[in-house]
Amino acid sequence: MDANKESVDHGGSRFIGCNATHYFSSRNWHVTVLDNLSRDGTDRNLQWLRNRTTFDFEEVDVCDRSAVERIVSDGCYDAVIHLAAQVAVTTSVVNPRMDFMVNALGTFNVLDAVRLHSPEAVVIFASTNKVYGKVNSAATGLVGGRHAYKDRSFGISESELLDFLSPYGCSKGAADQYTLDFARIYGIPATSFRQSCIYGPQQFGVEDQGWLAWFAIASLLGRDITIYGDGNQVRDVFTSTIFCALMKRPSRLQTRSPGRPSTWAAGRTISFRSSTSSRFSSGGSKEGFYLSGRIGGRATSGFTSATSASSMRCWAGGPRLASRKGWLKLVDWVEQSHLAFDPAI
Ligand SMILES: NC(=O)c1ccc[n+]([C@@H]2O[C@H](COP(=O)([O-])OP(=O)(O)OC[C@H]3O[C@@H](n4cnc5c(N)ncnc54)[C@H](O)[C@@H]3O)[C@@H](O)[C@H]2O)c1
Repeated sequence: MDANKESVDHGGSRFIGCNATHYFSSRNWHVTVLDNLSRDGTDRNLQWLRNRTTFDFEEVDVCDRSAVERIVSDGCYDAVIHLAAQVAVTTSVVNPRMDFMVNALGTFNVLDAVRLHSPEAVVIFASTNKVYGKVNSAATGLVGGRHAYKDRSFGISESELLDFLSPYGCSKGAADQYTLDFARIYGIPATSFRQSCIYGPQQFGVEDQGWLAWFAIASLLGRDITIYGDGNQVRDVFTSTIFCALMKRPSRLQTRSPGRPSTWAAGRTISFRSSTSSRFSSGGSKEGFYLSGRIGGRATSGFTSATSASSMRCWAGGPRLASRKGWLKLVDWVEQSHLAFDPAI
């Protein structure tokens, strides 16, 4: 139990944020959620949270520097969890300025507010494995119907070169680097989590973000699913429950390695094509499956490793939860929430 700890959860009304708010508040943390409610599903998730736990809520845009500073200076926070973001590569290509403002400037606002008003708070920035780009130096080959790295059997680690790809990759990458540098220069206990794909309940997945949830929702609603590329690309996936548990750990991580990123991975990868197989199907219609052309800015193999976060490997329940059990929890939620999806898609 972490009784009486306090956190502010930026972007806390949608997928990971909603799960994090529930996770921490049910462990007796006092959570303040900051969100501009810009994404579909936030209202519903806020209501879901209100029915289960207590927390404070502020409708604030992370680009609003003075509002962010006011909230950070008002509290006495042990942790600042920064999840608010523009999250889709496709949207970033259509509107790179908005993407930059939210992801790069928004993160800067959060970091600077912590530097000025709450320098003891642990800052967790949800970065992305997309900061490694296509990893052109890594040879890949088709092995057993999956694009696999030939010389990186454990995937991509933090020692890989950064190569920001797409406006989303650039804005998240800039934010990632600011986070780590604020830790180095100003000594604030901040870290970047460079995870691959997280999935779980409360995830209003759509075609261009939250693909496993989208597959489940589309399957339930009988919608077509387009798989971009050849379908053999793989992603490391793990559940929001595991991600929340990882977020509880950085205060310990930070004392060991301040300002270092963590490339989290469950060590379990699935290909897009196999995710549509019976093992991952919720049983809905699969009539509409078809393959189409490649989309720019997406890595073929998004397989990250946990080399510096080796504790993940021996963490009982991690990989297990990331597989069938995690998928069934998501499908359960999709089935219970089916009335919510039509307007949200
Ligand atoms: N879900 C994944 O698989 C995944 C993978 C890698 C990285 N991430 C990162 O994790 C974080 C959370 O992702 P998610 O899947 O929960 O996304 P999400 O879209 O479900 O949640 C993002 C939240 O940010 C809020 N938001 C957007 N713009 C805002 C603004 N200007 N001011 C305040 N709030 C704003 C939205 O309303 C939403 O509640 C993001 O930073 C994302 O880039 C997610």
